[in-house]
Amino acid sequence: SANSEEALYRPNFHFSPKKGWMNDPNGMFFYNEYYHLYFQHYPDSSKWGPMHWGHATSTDMVTWKEQPIALYPDELGYIFSGSAVVDHENTSGFGKEGKIPIVALFTYHDPKKEKGGGTDVETQGIAYSLDEGLTWTKYEGNPVIKNPGERDFRDPKVSWNDLRKEWVMVLAAGQKIMFYTSQNLKDWKLLSDFGEGVGNHNGVWECPDLFPLKVKDSDEEKWVLLVSINPGGPNGGSATQYFVGDFNGEKFTLDPDFKNAMVNEHDFWVDFGKDNYAGVTWSNVATADGGKLFIGWMSNWQYANEVPTETWRSATTVAREMELIKSGDEYRLISIPVEELSGYRSSKYKKENISVKDEVKLIGSETADLSRTEINFSISDLADNIYTLRLSNNEGDELSFGYDHRDKSFYIDRSKSGKTGFSENFANNISTAPRTSDAVNLSGKILLDKTSIELFYDDGETVMTEIFFPNAPFETLSIASENGEFLLDYIEVHELNF
Ligand code: FRU
Repeated sequence: SANSEEALYRPNFHFSPKKGWMNDPNGMFFYNEYYHLYFQHYPDSSKWGPMHWGHATSTDMVTWKEQPIALYPDELGYIFSGSAVVDHENTSGFGKEGKIPIVALFTYHDPKKEKGGGTDVETQGIAYSLDEGLTWTKYEGNPVIKNPGERDFRDPKVSWNDLRKEWVMVLAAGQKIMFYTSQNLKDWKLLSDFGEGVGNHNGVWECPDLFPLKVKDSDEEKWVLLVSINPGGPNGGSATQYFVGDFNGEKFTLDPDFKNAMVNEHDFWVDFGKDNYAGVTWSNVATADGGKLFIGWMSNWQYANEVPTETWRSATTVAREMELIKSGDEYRLISIPVEELSGYRSSKYKKENISVKDEVKLIGSETADLSRTEINFSISDLADNIYTLRLSNNEGDELSFGYDHRDKSFYIDRSKSGKTGFSENFANNISTAPRTSDAVNLSGKILLDKTSIELFYDDGETVMTEIFFPNAPFETLSIASENGEFLLDYIEVHELNF
């Protein structure tokens, strides 16, 4: 029933729409103390359909308030993914009576043209808001970018280039990214494209994002290009790859070291788990360290329409801070949960120097509610062993995850995690991720909600996000050693209360 579905599966601290379908996060901007999140939404069904932009607001990116639907489909088509910017200088001319316009840029996907087999199905449109993102007026001159003859031509992400005093748009077209520029957000000029011969091409490129980041502990600045791809992800289906390079205002070029590393072995994924897709960053805001703020859609096109909730479908990831690091000549994009999340902690358990042999129970439901927790741990003296953490309940469901030091890989095994049979692609494989850090200590941060796990290893250098649907809440967390005894340096468990 709807009630038991709410109790068992409605996330505690991840945004999900009250009812209906959701996919990509869209149009995120920060303005006047509020973080805005729009999202691909079909309010009339829990399956994908005519796309709207739903809307939610937050003051901390952790707790969200759903707002009225922002954009409805119209005669030009469904409203597909896109972005929004604060037009401080009123370059668009949409501002009135001193009100600063927020401008949304999105893809029109025309189902009539699609039926007719046209290649001009997707075009770009804009809309503006003079009440800080609550209500929107579509521009009468839409579309602002016509289709140049590309079947897939979508997901505009726009930012202000302060050096050149102009807007820059990245757009996905098949298996390349197109770069455009504009002075007024209405007239767009094509600059260049990127993607041939580099990166993963086992699917359609979607939802790009482009932004500069300081390399941590240096004066170097690099440009990061995020490109979601479906299928082609490292563990099947949808995932987001990233490129590191330079952008001179016209052209994105890969950093030569990055290019070598990627050609050698493409392990440049924002997240190796199966459930973080189409994520992009907030505009008009940065972290205290100049990092970007990111959020993704916590599902995968392989089974998104089949997951076992009916009232609503899917949730976003926890919002994350992104930074760029470099060790040797290797760049890595790291992500960790936003700092604001720690404001909700209440400490439940902390222990040091636990000797682990076979399987040791760490905590049960009397200590903390495992469907609203943050767990931090560290293990030193890594040996030829498999380090496993396991969640279980009295229905016999289990979610296992951990690290195999013999081949330096992380894994998540959800094959026994509860309901898995709704799609043959949900639990047919154990997801893995290579460990790229060579730190002596293995440290991890685990976020647990009712239906999701987010793993941040090595300070966010390797991230894995996956969803699951247990038959009852997980109540026990244990830790196991495959081969002899090891020392868990410390573990701390915080319940998150909202
Ligand atoms: C990515 C995506 C986008 C598109 C949207 C449609 O998940 O396919 O490319 O704009 O979803 O809902």
